[in-house]
Amino acid sequence: MTTNLSPWTGARRRIFLQEVGPRDGLQMESAFVPTADKIALIDALSAAGLAKIEATAFVSPQAIPALRDAEVVLREIVRAPGVVYTCLVPNLRGAERAIDARADELNLVMSCSETHNLANLRMTRAQSFAALSEVIALARQAKVPVNVSLSCAFGCPMEGDIDPAVVLDWAARFDAAGARGITLCDTTGMAFPTQVAQLARDFRVRLPKAELTLHFHNTRGMGLANVLASIDAGADRFDASLGGLGGCPYAPGASGNVCTEEIVHALALMDFDTGCDLGLLLAAAARLPALVGHDIPSQIVKAGRRLDLHAPPADFAHWRERALARESGAARD
Ligand code: COA
Ligand code: ZN
Repeated sequence: MTTNLSPWTGARRRIFLQEVGPRDGLQMESAFVPTADKIALIDALSAAGLAKIEATAFVSPQAIPALRDAEVVLREIVRAPGVVYTCLVPNLRGAERAIDARADELNLVMSCSETHNLANLRMTRAQSFAALSEVIALARQAKVPVNVSLSCAFGCPMEGDIDPAVVLDWAARFDAAGARGITLCDTTGMAFPTQVAQLARDFRVRLPKAELTLHFHNTRGMGLANVLASIDAGADRFDASLGGLGGCPYAPGASGNVCTEEIVHALALMDFDTGCDLGLLLAAAARLPALVGHDIPSQIVKAGRRLDLHAPPADFAHWRERALARESGAARD
């Protein structure tokens, strides 16, 4: 059973939530979200206590027009102390732009699946590794830490299962190249709880010092179950997106990330320490449909918190009186 206490200190376990909505979420949107609204969204997320925020991506503006305002966004957000503002970077050009814009961290991407990597990044994995090694070298010169997100770590929609040994080998190569952290991404929602628990444990044994993040999509309804199974296996960092926005433009059938406010709501009930203010997250999530122009997957925004109680129905008093009258009648008989 999931335990919320640290085996070392006995204190409530801290779970670090990393918001990816402004990048993984907004990159999918057909309508361009105005720059000022993106900045207001990120500022609201900073105030809500997230540990890390993936604020934007320094990618080709032709490839992802939705994020063509990366420089302005990074310059104009209010940087809350303690929050790490990370940015997705696909290549050297992106790294130079992100470093100039004072990103706190560069998040590089490569797929564990050869087919997905070729389809998504138009390179073999070996070519991607060589190119990203140059990016890591540049980032180290600039003293900016690097995280590497490994897509399709739990399965590829074109190749099927990916051997966990292959996933861990790529993670180890990036670790040796100087990455501070590795994210295992379930890009298309193929992960399941026992699988993620095993890989999280094996990762820790192989790379005890690397910062491990798990990135789940809710494509097949297993997002929260995968988070809880990972926590049981010792993981403490998760990507999530406000409202459950998200997807990958190159991953067939991909749907939203696990939803930030749903994870915070569940973990708070289980008495984990997420550092997040659920009320502020819910208020920000409620503003999303107007921003993106459509409904959002979040269940909590629709249903409210577990103890957001409802008034009884209007005819409640009538039925109660009738029931009580029958009860006292029955008692007299
Ligand atoms: N920032 C700005 N412009 C960039 C860029 C970057 N990081 N990387 C490439 N470009 C520009 C080039 O300058 C070039 O522009 P031009 O045609 O005006 O000269 C154009 O994009 C093509 O560049 P090229 O080096 O041939 O790259 P490519 O076409 O092979 O693109 C990617 C490769 C991956 C960089 C690009 O497709 C991309 O940014 N994709 C987005 C990937 C992504 O975010 N996926 C979602 C996350 S999984
Ligand atoms: Zn994703």
